[in-house]
Amino acid sequence: MIAAKRDSKKLSREEIASFVVGATDGSWADYQLSAMLMAICIRGMDTEETAALTEAMMRSGTIADLSGVALPKTDKHSTGGVGDKVSIHLAPMVAACGVAVPMMSGRGLGHTGGTLDKLEAIPGFRVGLTLSEYRAQMEKLGIALIGQTAELAPADKKLYSLRDVTGTVESIPLITGSILSKKLAEGIDSLVLDVKFGAGAFMKEKARARELATTMVAACRRLGKPARALLTAMEQPLGRAVGNAVEIVECIECLRGRGPADVMEVTYALAENMLLLAGAAGSAAEARAKLENAIASGAALEKLRALIIAQDGDPRVIDDPAAHLPRARFQAPVIADSKAGGTWIAGVNAMDIALAALRLGAGRARAEDRIDHAVGITQLVKVGGRVEPGGTLAVVHANTEAALAGACESVAKAITFSPGPVTAAPLVDEVITGCD
Ligand code: URA
Repeated sequence: MIAAKRDSKKLSREEIASFVVGATDGSWADYQLSAMLMAICIRGMDTEETAALTEAMMRSGTIADLSGVALPKTDKHSTGGVGDKVSIHLAPMVAACGVAVPMMSGRGLGHTGGTLDKLEAIPGFRVGLTLSEYRAQMEKLGIALIGQTAELAPADKKLYSLRDVTGTVESIPLITGSILSKKLAEGIDSLVLDVKFGAGAFMKEKARARELATTMVAACRRLGKPARALLTAMEQPLGRAVGNAVEIVECIECLRGRGPADVMEVTYALAENMLLLAGAAGSAAEARAKLENAIASGAALEKLRALIIAQDGDPRVIDDPAAHLPRARFQAPVIADSKAGGTWIAGVNAMDIALAALRLGAGRARAEDRIDHAVGITQLVKVGGRVEPGGTLAVVHANTEAALAGACESVAKAITFSPGPVTAAPLVDEVITGCD
């Protein structure tokens, strides 16, 4: 089988299944698994093979049984970015519109933040639900935001650990199998993907992001799960806050109708497609109206409150976040100076901002690192905005004075200026629908 893929031959469904079983039960040695991963990485897989890989990986463990949830079940997955806190307010918005959202998320690693880390900034919030707790909460509340349980898609854990050390993370069929096997094992009916491209994204080039998006939509469709993918820009961070507790505050603002325009643009675009796939709206306009009403009526905010209570978090963060979320010891503004070369914001490099947040302690460089939930960046300027010399470009929240000074300098360097007006590139570049 390894030699066949090395020679660009197509693998059968059975062959792919035996490779995945071999990864799960240990009957293939690590060197054989690694050789196969490299052969797939170099030679690629067609849609049929990629769907077979996804299915075999999904079946390598338990598939959550959500048959007790009467509502249509849909989820969103983002390939990750800087300041991407969308899941935390999108899930309650969609759930408030009568669609169940069973969402299993990841932790942050490297420059991208993780939804689980952000949720854990809420005192007491428990992301480690068991599968039976998850099922019970889905039946009762129609929403859960939890971590990946060990029973789901165990083949991915093994294969990802080998890909990580064999230069095979970049392969589009392998990424597709990895992401979709975990999502489809959640027990969903349909899926919306947010595939990001740009400086702060996993895929820097739009063409590669597009290829990943179309491959994932095609694989889902072959497995009988309607899916859509949005290609969204990740040149500058999403929203005005980067960190953990500070991003929770921004999510609550979104649910109060005061979210930053860019965050809400991506949120509405994703949520509209979720309602459409779930059959909860007949048109994008109808979906938008329902979602806006969920915010205006307070129903979406109440869904978040119910979710926090169900997962043992302190619901007081909703009404008084400043008093109940962790707060850093030091805050300082980053000030625009007169030598900047202009007053219009031309760029806010997402990667540089992410690295500044990481150094503050908001992220982890290695999987075992501890997160400082209190630190981060707020009031970050947006491309196209204007700041006169002496004005504020961002506010840094740090727990040591040395970290505060370092981050202020890094944030200032991440921002570029123009002497004339600047228009930001469109955020939602394309929607890949396939034909659902
Ligand atoms: N995220 C995943 O879960 N898997 C990959 O392979 C890449 C990103």
